[in-house]
Amino acid sequence: MVVVTRNFHLAKLIPSLSHTSRHFSVKSTYHPGDQVTVGGRQYPSDHMTNITPHILSHMGRNLHLQQYHPLCHISDRIVKYMYGRYLTPRGSPLFSVHSQLHPVVTTQQNFDSLLIPKDHVSRKKSDNFYVNKEQLLRAHTSAHQCELMRMGLDNFLVIGDVYRRDEIDSSHYPVFHQVEGVRLLTKSDVYGKQQDMKEYELFTPEGPPTHHPHVINILKADLKDCLQGLATTLFGRDVEMRWVDAYFPFTHPSWELEVKLNDQWIEMLGCGIIQHQVLLNADVEERVGWAFGLGLERWAMKLYQIPDIRVFWSTDPGFLSQFVFDDPATNVNFKVVSKHTPCINDISFWLPSDSSYEAADFYDIVRSIGGNLVEQVYLVDQFTHPHTGRTSHCYRIVYRHMDRILTQEEVNRVHSRIEQETTTALGVTVR
Ligand code: DAH
Repeated sequence: MVVVTRNFHLAKLIPSLSHTSRHFSVKSTYHPGDQVTVGGRQYPSDHMTNITPHILSHMGRNLHLQQYHPLCHISDRIVKYMYGRYLTPRGSPLFSVHSQLHPVVTTQQNFDSLLIPKDHVSRKKSDNFYVNKEQLLRAHTSAHQCELMRMGLDNFLVIGDVYRRDEIDSSHYPVFHQVEGVRLLTKSDVYGKQQDMKEYELFTPEGPPTHHPHVINILKADLKDCLQGLATTLFGRDVEMRWVDAYFPFTHPSWELEVKLNDQWIEMLGCGIIQHQVLLNADVEERVGWAFGLGLERWAMKLYQIPDIRVFWSTDPGFLSQFVFDDPATNVNFKVVSKHTPCINDISFWLPSDSSYEAADFYDIVRSIGGNLVEQVYLVDQFTHPHTGRTSHCYRIVYRHMDRILTQEEVNRVHSRIEQETTTALGVTVR
């Protein structure tokens, strides 16, 4: 949240995507004193309560944890990168990952612990989803920094859904996903063996505690190298990047990393050196550290050329099937899914007995005859006859036009041409 990055997440409500939920029941108007149920927990409502059933229906979807979801792929790649970059002396990952923290946080967690002033615009009721005057749906994953640091963690990632109220467009949605990274260092991490020498201090001796310039330099070098490495890991070695000075109440100095894509500079993340007072709020002493926060949707949209943030919530197989692969680093050039309903036709045939059949040849035939009308084609069933020993395949072809409704008749015509060509070219026997 906060000033500079605010625009990027100005989230919007899109009624057409409303999704009824099994997990939450909440009325849209409240009388002070009513209980509200959020994520299976009960909270008292008051004059600040403004969560809606629509917004709560997104909770528990956990797109970042859903296998093969594009947000899950990106999140896996980020985790893998951080695991590989920071190792314990025994060679295991240094960072811990927290991806299932409950999204209801206190105003203390979301704002106060991060030094966000009492009158800051980012606290407004019109910008957040309040459960009541003391609790809200987290507006950023930074809300968990202090509680995790207080638990004694010093290298961690928080991954989760965050909630903000705002207007509507293709790059803003009231729920999106962030990754937060925090790394704390001790004096000996910063200075190595020289730690005993008096002049090596973490903070300047006079005035209110400020980081020693050497500390800033060490942290800044590690932070920037880490995040540049992350951007090149995802966007490729040749991607152009630049650092821009930024302002966040909880870090100083602060920066944003911009990446040049299609001749445009795009802000990809915010980061900085954690303010000493933030560490003190978490009862952490004798440590210094850095933090960063990034929006998963933004990274996924840029990486996969996804033009509209709303599609992440789609359950349409036309969308989801484009991301079904086990290596999260697989390249995808996203194809927009048609609004029109698909026509689904199956085709079953006996394979020729000479084992000359290759599924790839069949897919080629489907693509060359069906062209852009074919959205998906996949094997749904196969079996071998116990007596004849012959094998049969059944494929499903999903036909859908980008701009208009397809009639079943025209789909049938294409489908029977596919049947004929498969029979003659591949020697199969259609059943
Ligand atoms: N919480 C910020 C936001 O949502 C992003 C951010 C900026 C996180 C700087 C950080 C940070 O940890 O150091 O816009």
